[in-house]
Amino acid sequence: MKILVTGAAGFIGSNFVRYMLSRYKDVYVVSFDALTYAGNLENLAEFEGDPRHQFVKGDIANPEDVENVCREHKFDAVVNFAAESHVDRSIHLGVYPFIRTNVQGVQVLLETSRKYNIRRFVQISTDEVYGSLGEEGLFYEQSPLAPNNPYSATKAGADFLVRASFRCYGQDVVITRCSNNFGPYQFPEKLIPLTITNALENKPVPVYGDGMHMRDWIYVTDHCSAIDLVLRKAPAGSVYNIGGVHDIPNIEVVRKILRFMGKPESLIRHIEDRPGHDRRYAMDSSKITKELGWKMSYSFEEALQTTIKWYTENTKWWQRIKSGEYVSYYEKVYSARLKQKYP
Ligand code: NAD
Ligand code: DAU
Repeated sequence: MKILVTGAAGFIGSNFVRYMLSRYKDVYVVSFDALTYAGNLENLAEFEGDPRHQFVKGDIANPEDVENVCREHKFDAVVNFAAESHVDRSIHLGVYPFIRTNVQGVQVLLETSRKYNIRRFVQISTDEVYGSLGEEGLFYEQSPLAPNNPYSATKAGADFLVRASFRCYGQDVVITRCSNNFGPYQFPEKLIPLTITNALENKPVPVYGDGMHMRDWIYVTDHCSAIDLVLRKAPAGSVYNIGGVHDIPNIEVVRKILRFMGKPESLIRHIEDRPGHDRRYAMDSSKITKELGWKMSYSFEEALQTTIKWYTENTKWWQRIKSGEYVSYYEKVYSARLKQKYP
């Protein structure tokens, strides 16, 4: 199978390339990525020289870039990870790059896939398109889409475009909606790698609001195994939820990390909340379990330990990131809030 993996130099994309190349001998992957602040060729460095892998720099929102790669290769499938992925950036730095990549880029990929008769299109969406839950209940595939921040609004927009391509053109598309991933190679702006790397530097660990917001956590390799099943087995036009462990408040996640690292809880700083902050996500993943036979392989604690170990052993990887563009981002989003008294 020949696959175009877009956004392959990012966190989940690079883990997916690793998963596919290590699992299948007969897979050929073209990793396609614009190398934005979140894209990093180091994430794909181990595949240099592998005859089953090639990297192409390109922008999914630029039709010419996408045409060029599709014309050159006869792909069986596109798996689209490319996105502006960070909620805080969409709120504090502006939504236009999100609209360009997450909406326009998806439409370019859909149209070009049809033009080049690429059999299957997998859109990597998110549980955030469902909005927020109250104290109880789960997100189901049939739950209404009710996004609450600019990032999730653009991801929901893409889901509707993918659905429209199925309904109007019979395109073989599938959507996955996964919960919060963590693991190696995650950009340190996200809660778990931010907590680990700040703790390694003995810096304050920012927790938004009261810290009682809940996310549904999944180890990235479990997400990759689910995507692989969807790619190979899901019926055209289908949607699959993929979830992990829910009902752990953020503050508990942070406390657990600090405990595993032998760091004091005095590093925790409650700061002003994220605007529009969704209170609780929790996924029902019974459809993918029953229909495609997916199951999680990693416990939250075991995966957290593995992740802490990876960041501890790969300081150069994240120190380089944290000393680059990230400095101005951190300054803009955290500095004032860290100085204020909370609540
Ligand atoms: P990431 O930010 O780590 O990586 C995104 C990648 O996309 C980067 O390599 C970046 O360079 C690339 N990219 C951005 N704009 C591009 C463009 N116009 N053309 C080509 N490449 C471009 O993100 P991630 O956490 O790996 O997320 C990957 C996908 O999974 C996203 O679609 C995201 O919405 C979705 N998702 C993420 C999570 C999570 O917890 N991280 C959970 C569910 C779904
Ligand atoms: O749910 C899936 C989504 O998970 C993906 O679609 C997104 O691409 C991905 O970024 C992630 O979004 P979140 O906003 O949930 O992830 P983040 O790691 O930014 O935040 C997780 C929780 O932790 C959230 O409730 C906000 C909180 N938080 C985050 C940061 C960065 C803090 O309390 N402090 C922080 O410094």
